[in-house]
Amino acid sequence: MISQQVEEPGLDTGNSARVFAIANQKGGVGKTTTAVNLATALAACKKRVLLIDLDPQGNASTGLGVSGQGGSRNSYHVLLGSASLAEAAVPSVVPGMSVVPSDVNLSGAEIELIDLPQRERRLALQIVAVRSDYDYILIDCPPALGLLTLNALVAADAVLVPLQAEFYALEGLSHLVRTIQRVKRHLNPGLEIQGIVLTMFDRRNNLCDMVARDVRAYMGAAVYDTVIPRNVRVSEAPSHGKPVLLYDFRCAGSQAYISLAREVLRRERAGGFKGAGAVPVAGTAPALVS
Ligand SMILES: Nc1ncnc2c1ncn2[C@@H]1O[C@H](COP(=O)(O)OP(=O)(O)OP(=O)(O)O)[C@@H](O)[C@H]1O
Ligand SMILES: [Mg+2]
Repeated sequence: MISQQVEEPGLDTGNSARVFAIANQKGGVGKTTTAVNLATALAACKKRVLLIDLDPQGNASTGLGVSGQGGSRNSYHVLLGSASLAEAAVPSVVPGMSVVPSDVNLSGAEIELIDLPQRERRLALQIVAVRSDYDYILIDCPPALGLLTLNALVAADAVLVPLQAEFYALEGLSHLVRTIQRVKRHLNPGLEIQGIVLTMFDRRNNLCDMVARDVRAYMGAAVYDTVIPRNVRVSEAPSHGKPVLLYDFRCAGSQAYISLAREVLRRERAGGFKGAGAVPVAGTAPALVS
C-alpha cells in the first residue's frame, strides 16, 4: 500500500481544507497529470483529499476511472447549483481520495453561468460546506482563463502551475501571473502561488535546460526543486484508469510526484510561498520571451 511508503507530516490543516487550483491556460502542459498524481501522493501521506475536475474534457475523471457514471451529479451541477459537492463526490481508486467528476456538459456552464448571480464565486461558495471534510482540495482547471478557471482561482488559497519547459512557456506564464494578481486584487485577496512545477522534463534536451534556467531566473523561489521527468509510465497510467502511483509506484514519474507532494507540504508548513504579489511580471522579460 502506497501510504506505508510515503511519510510526510505536512501542515495540520485543522478543520479547514487548503484549496489548490492547478492552472495554466496553455493546453497539454501536465495540469491533469499533476492534479491526479499530486492528489494521490497527498492521499498517500494520509491526507483526506478531494479532486474536483473542472475541465469539460473530463481527463482527470477518466484517468481515475470515475467518468460516465450515468445519472450521477458532477461539477456541472455543482456550479449551476443543482448539487452540492458532497452529493457529487465519488470515491476514487485511491484510498482517502474522492473525486467530483466532470463531463462535456461542463462546457455549457461557461455560457450558463454568465447570467447567474455570483458567477465567479459559485465554486467558492460550494467549497465552504466541505472544507471540514478534507485536508486538501485540488481543482483541475481547463486550458483557458474563462469563467471555469476564474471560479477555481476565486475558490483557491493557492495556485499550483505546471509548466512545460518549451519555447513559449514564459510568455504564457507572465500572462497567467498577471491574471492571478488581478484575481488577488479584485476577487480573492488571500490567493497565493503555491509554486511552479516543471513538467515532462527531458534532461537530454538542451532547450529544456535553457528554459528551466530562465524560468528559475524569472520566478525564483516559486519554482519547485522537484522536476517531473518525461516518463512513458506516466502517460500510460490514465488508459488504465489509475494514477501512475498505483500503476507503477517505482517509476521515475511516480517518485517525482511523491517528491513534489513532500515539497508542497513543506511549503505549507513554512507558510507557503508568498510570492504572488512579488513575482516580476513585466519589464524583466528574459531572453526567451520576445
Ligand atoms: N511526465 C510525463 N511524462 C510523459 N507524458 C506525460 C507526462 N505528463 C503528462 N504527460 C502526457 O502529456 C499529455 C498532456 O498531459 P495532461 O493531460 O496532464 O495536460 P493538461 O495540461 O491537463 O492538458 P489540457 O490542457 O488539455 O487539460 C497527456 O497525454 C499526458 O499523459
Ligand atoms: Mg487537463
